[in-house]
Amino acid sequence: MQLVRGSSEPLFCWDCRRARWRDNGAAMSARTTTEPFFDPATGTVSYVVSDNATRNAAIIDPVLDFEFRSGRTQTQSADRIIAHVHDGGLSVQWILETHAHADHLSSARYIQGRLGGRIAIGENIRHVQAVFKKLYNLERTFLPDGSQFDHLFKDGERFQLGQTEVTALLVPGHTPADMAYVLDDAVFVGDTLFMPDVGSARADFPGGDAATLYRSMRRILDLPPATRLFVCHDYPPTGREPQWETTVAEQRARNIHVHDGVTEAQFVAMRTARDATLEVPTLILPSIQVNVRAGQLPPPDDNGVSYLRIPLNALG
Ligand SMILES: [Fe+2]
Repeated sequence: MQLVRGSSEPLFCWDCRRARWRDNGAAMSARTTTEPFFDPATGTVSYVVSDNATRNAAIIDPVLDFEFRSGRTQTQSADRIIAHVHDGGLSVQWILETHAHADHLSSARYIQGRLGGRIAIGENIRHVQAVFKKLYNLERTFLPDGSQFDHLFKDGERFQLGQTEVTALLVPGHTPADMAYVLDDAVFVGDTLFMPDVGSARADFPGGDAATLYRSMRRILDLPPATRLFVCHDYPPTGREPQWETTVAEQRARNIHVHDGVTEAQFVAMRTARDATLEVPTLILPSIQVNVRAGQLPPPDDNGVSYLRIPLNALG
């Protein structure tokens, strides 16, 4: 099994696969523990993943609560994560974004101020920043060079979480900058795949592309069948509770959009037709202008207040 082009080492030691067990929603292996945090307001699942040997942790896609009507940000979701980190005696090494989300604001900067850790995202965030700097007509000092983040991952880049090796995989299509993070026997797939009965994310945002998304999905689905997949969102059908963990085997058998046998052309036709019916996400305009700043709110005006920008007649 080889995941990273040009690499001679396997990503996983499948001979070392361990028994897993669950406790209060956490998913554990002998090497790592994954704690999910579901935000019902946006359907987002954030994760705290920790290396059991060292208690080093990565926080993935943390949410900053935001009420559009009042313009009020809140930190209850982030504070739950912070409390979990404190309670577990964890040390935050990384705050990982899978992409510049269009449905929620990131609390990466708020969490970093309290727990430390390096905020990181894929290097293609520069393209996203350039597009949205133009759309929002952001201040001249905002540079679309990724410097707002502490680290930008290249495709296939490996890094450490304690004693656990993590690989960043470029999985564009939903946006041009989407990354998935592979560690232990799990992948945090961002919006590249949803639960099998939900299917896939839209591919009609700026820089998105359905054919590219299909290839990124297949890249993940080429992993060993038992690989655990953790999704960034769940929008459960009526009657089902939110879920966030699945496997490659389940996705290949049952994903309504990309189960085995669905061709790229079929997926592109389905995705394109479906995207044409979708409304612009409620929080896209507030979210992206904060998320391209790595969760930093816009610089305050001379009265000390930060303002969001809403371009008129520019989207939709
Ligand atoms: Fe997304």
